[in-house]
Amino acid sequence: MRILETPDFEMTNNCVLVPTMGALHGGHTSLIQAAVRRARIEGVPSAVSIFVNPKQFNEQSDFDQYPDRMNDDIAICKEQGVDIVFNPSVDVVYPQHQDVLSNVIIPEIASKPGLEDLYRPGHFEGVCKVVSRLFDLCNPSAAVFGEKDWQQLQCIRTMSKLQNRSLEMIPAQTVREDSGLAMSSRNLNLSDEARIQAVALSQALFSSSHVNTPELAQSLMREMLENNGIIPEYAVIRPSATLMPIPDPAVPFHKPCRALIAAMVGGVRLIDNAPWTPVAYA
Ligand code: PAF
Repeated sequence: MRILETPDFEMTNNCVLVPTMGALHGGHTSLIQAAVRRARIEGVPSAVSIFVNPKQFNEQSDFDQYPDRMNDDIAICKEQGVDIVFNPSVDVVYPQHQDVLSNVIIPEIASKPGLEDLYRPGHFEGVCKVVSRLFDLCNPSAAVFGEKDWQQLQCIRTMSKLQNRSLEMIPAQTVREDSGLAMSSRNLNLSDEARIQAVALSQALFSSSHVNTPELAQSLMREMLENNGIIPEYAVIRPSATLMPIPDPAVPFHKPCRALIAAMVGGVRLIDNAPWTPVAYA
């Protein structure tokens, strides 16, 4: 396995990329495994980028406190059979005096749905910038992103299409602990008590799948969360691709949907989502 600070010919001549900010956990491992599998099939190298993107943090303190576990991350990549770890500096990603972001297109889904965009204004703008730069630098033929960050996945998909990129997006399913809790770097900050309480998020998502209208599903999710002492920032059903509000949630909706939740649990902000299909049409 090679560790690069600047791209080299082997990487830019097609690779399967997993963009990360490091602090790798079991959720990342499944993205990495998907990339390694695909890269072996294609006969190209697998690459994991590790770059903590300053442009996507709403609070400077969050950026400053972001865990640095480079040695562990490298060990995980090695263990998973990754060919290249790409660990660029800020200067490589955002060189001064060069207009490297002029091709970035921020899609509407980054700021319109009233989900993450409402609670983390500007976040997806930062994500689009860094992902576009990583795509420019690494020139991957395919890139793997987790479904756990559903709005992020849709932003990146839409941006890539608008930029006419020919790379394939490989979505990877959310990895859950035995309790149902979605794996996330933020889980490290949960107290034992909050970790138990946080299981209500996945329970709420799954409990909402047995009804036939978005409105009923939303009220079931909220009830499940509130019964566990959680007041969500949002707990909604939205069309999977656009994420825009459903015009009349009281009637069955016929397009593929996603149930999405964000909530503070024990001082830690968690997000989760799952597919949602009205029961009558399942
Ligand atoms: O999901 C993440 O870890 C980050 O948002 C990403 C896609 C690596 C961009 O910094």
